Amino acid sequence: MTHEARKSILECKGIKKNFYSPLKIEILKEINLTIHQGETIAIMGRSGQGKSTLLQLLGTLDTSCKGTLSIDGMLVNFFNKSHIRNQKLGFIFQSFYLLEEYSALDNVLMPAKIARKACHVNSSAYKRACDLLDHVGLSERRHFNTKLLSGGEKQRVAIARALCNDPKIILADEPSGNLDKETSAQIHDLLLNLAKNENKTLIVVTHDPALAALCDKTLRLQDGLISCETLPEFTI
Ligand SMILES: Nc1ncnc2c1ncn2[C@@H]1O[C@H](COP(=O)(O)OP(=O)(O)O)[C@@H](O)[C@H]1O
Ligand SMILES: [Mg+2]
Repeated sequence: MTHEARKSILECKGIKKNFYSPLKIEILKEINLTIHQGETIAIMGRSGQGKSTLLQLLGTLDTSCKGTLSIDGMLVNFFNKSHIRNQKLGFIFQSFYLLEEYSALDNVLMPAKIARKACHVNSSAYKRACDLLDHVGLSERRHFNTKLLSGGEKQRVAIARALCNDPKIILADEPSGNLDKETSAQIHDLLLNLAKNENKTLIVVTHDPALAALCDKTLRLQDGLISCETLPEFTI
């Protein structure tokens, strides 16, 4: 493995998270992780164990927890979290979260617009968005309103959108949770190939052992702890 591939890109130390609903639930008790650039990591665990909660924290979407998070050498705090999120992270969700009244291209360009705080993007962002839609096999549908697309096509748009700002880390929460088996397999291959080709770090929450098996490593979240860190062939 190259030196570059071993560079630490995300570290969290002593992450603890409680919910009060109304009784206290210690959903994350002590999470310590070091994730390296270019690694592909699956997070598995039973429903309700806190996988989405953890991903939200790693993605700076929620920062109300104990512990520290560093991304690409920067300690995340209240002031820099939006900047880090826009520059370093791409997100893919089970429910796609596309702007359904907008075209595929407009959706893919949205992170570039948010990062620039502008309604317009430059020609290089436009070219990257078009190239990404081409990579995910949707160049002919780029002007389609996304509400007209199938589930698999919507997730392809979401994958292209996650990569738009060339983030170092992609966080995906059950990206094939709403898709049939065959479409899921296509989305898994696409996601892993894009991550590997572009040397992205991928952290993906999944219930699907087939997706976990494609990743370098599987972490299991259980009882508030990352209870084991195993190679995919040893996971259930
Ligand atoms: N905002 C919240 N307030 C109270 N409880 C919550 C909140 N968000 C999630 N939970 C609870 O925390 C637990 C973990 O949720 P989640 O992270 O979504 O689990 P997973 O993704 O592993 O299925 C669940 O029991 C859920 O009901
Ligand atoms: Mg979840």
